[in-house]
Amino acid sequence: KKVRLIRVPFWLGCGRAGTELGPESIMRAGLLSQLKGIGVEVVGDSEVDCTKHPAGGTADGRIKYFAEVREMGRLVSEHVSRAVESGFFPLVLGGDHSVAIGSLAGLTAHYRNLGVIWFDAHADLNTEETSPSGNAHGIPLAVALGRARFKLTDIPGASLIRKERLVLVGVRDIDPGEKELIRSEGIACFTMHDIDKLGMKTVMERAIAIAGQGTDGVHLSLDLDALDPLEAAGVGTPVPGGVSYREAHFAMELLAESGLLTSADIVEVNGVLDYDRRTARHAVELAASMLGKRIL
Ligand code: ARG
Ligand code: MN
Ligand code: MN
Ligand code: MN
Repeated sequence: KKVRLIRVPFWLGCGRAGTELGPESIMRAGLLSQLKGIGVEVVGDSEVDCTKHPAGGTADGRIKYFAEVREMGRLVSEHVSRAVESGFFPLVLGGDHSVAIGSLAGLTAHYRNLGVIWFDAHADLNTEETSPSGNAHGIPLAVALGRARFKLTDIPGASLIRKERLVLVGVRDIDPGEKELIRSEGIACFTMHDIDKLGMKTVMERAIAIAGQGTDGVHLSLDLDALDPLEAAGVGTPVPGGVSYREAHFAMELLAESGLLTSADIVEVNGVLDYDRRTARHAVELAASMLGKRIL
């Protein structure tokens, strides 16, 4: 498997600085040597030139830094699209979760029927109207499904993702508008309650079946806040009661075993809040597991 790293040092989608340090701290935590160690070749490593220090902060209605987010999305999309064209597995290092707007835009330019696994404490299904915070990292899935005013198709080349092939895992903090959307659209959502009840094995088997059915690519969007903040404290929007370190690994191992994964994002590592660098180190370990690292 040949991987292309796409670093996106962006924080404007989460309203608090620190995630622009994510790519750097994940690299420093040893990503390249881990991947090399399991025989994964990293071909090319690019950094997306996105705004780190906005002049004022351009809001469009209710979303903070909307113009910057949209521009970042367009740039990330180009990087991802080029990586897919060259036959590589794009591994996008965020940045806050709004970077996934760019990943999904670049991916849907090539995969006509993309499956998406969203590993997150949150549903990220808010629209400009339902967002309680105005932070763009809470809206990427509504954008990708075409349910927000800003749509994935506003980015050249992109198409929308299909709700039938989207699955959420690890969710435990949902806003009212998101709950409504999940219900009305019938989006597959494995909450922490489901993980407790069914176990990670069954949840991931079902998630892989949903995202893999008839699809030509499967994207994993891994928000580190899916993990329990006791083990991964370096995130901006921690929610207690999360996935354990071991459960997260097991989920990644099952994804690797499926052989279906074609791209991934690793997002929300906040270099300022990650005081002991543990969240960045977990991110590296999880990247290795999703790309085939085994214990034995
Ligand atoms: N639901 C909240 C919001 O929309 C929090 C979103 C957190 N998203 C994330 N990618 N960490 O503001
Ligand atoms: Mn998220
Ligand atoms: Mn989250
Ligand atoms: Mn909340």
